[in-house]
Amino acid sequence: MKMRLDRYLAECGCGTRSEVKNLIKKGRVSVNGAVVTDSSAKVETETDAVSFDGMSVGYEQFRYYMLNKPAGCISATNDGLSSTVLDILADENTRDLFPVGRLDKDTEGLLLITNDGQLAHRLLSPRMHVDKTYIAAVSAALGGEELERFAKGLDIGDDKPTLPAQIREVTENEGMIPDRFGAGDAGGAEGYEAVYEVIIREGRYHQIKRMFEALGSRVVYLKRVAMGTLSLDEGLEPGEYRRLTEEELEALNG
Ligand code: URA
Repeated sequence: MKMRLDRYLAECGCGTRSEVKNLIKKGRVSVNGAVVTDSSAKVETETDAVSFDGMSVGYEQFRYYMLNKPAGCISATNDGLSSTVLDILADENTRDLFPVGRLDKDTEGLLLITNDGQLAHRLLSPRMHVDKTYIAAVSAALGGEELERFAKGLDIGDDKPTLPAQIREVTENEGMIPDRFGAGDAGGAEGYEAVYEVIIREGRYHQIKRMFEALGSRVVYLKRVAMGTLSLDEGLEPGEYRRLTEEELEALNG
């Protein structure tokens, strides 16, 4: 792809468009070994070798990050009041990055952050029915009949009931739920009685919380652990992120 030199450098994270224009003017940028002082010069992103202060600058059209979203930050690109998931990536080139779908402010877990609009569209399109897997700690355990209703699809007050979902109780849940929530303490504000793994194929507003609510239970802790083929890296603590691997990306692109 052909691109203006100043745009190329800005997209590589070397600075804002006006900052890089200045750097170019000062003779600090070279293309294929020759200093270029004209910001409007065109570079071929695939083949031209661009360097800044002698260091080679690589262009990536698309960037992909896996974030373990912590509670307390919002899944948006900017917000006047709360911290956003992009604030966590402040050391990266965040230009054009956005989170693929939203998690509630108090939900933790897997969030894909990218600038690849087509991939995001494929993952989020209701027609694609991409599985989203969550771990939910809830105030009241569900009985057999309630589990069946959950799995069949529930009326949560929308035009249509939810699509069929999968749900199973996770009895071996040691270490899954942060210590700030008390197990077996359903009476307390943050207590939970049971932990479930839930797989849904939609992404309605507050969907998991509303599904449990429809059955008289309350989600006290929610974490997304997978989306399609992408699983949350267990080595990432809340607030940590890493780039996707080639394998993860290939699998997502199917
Ligand atoms: N369902 C919810 O209720 N909240 C989320 O953040 C994601 C799914």
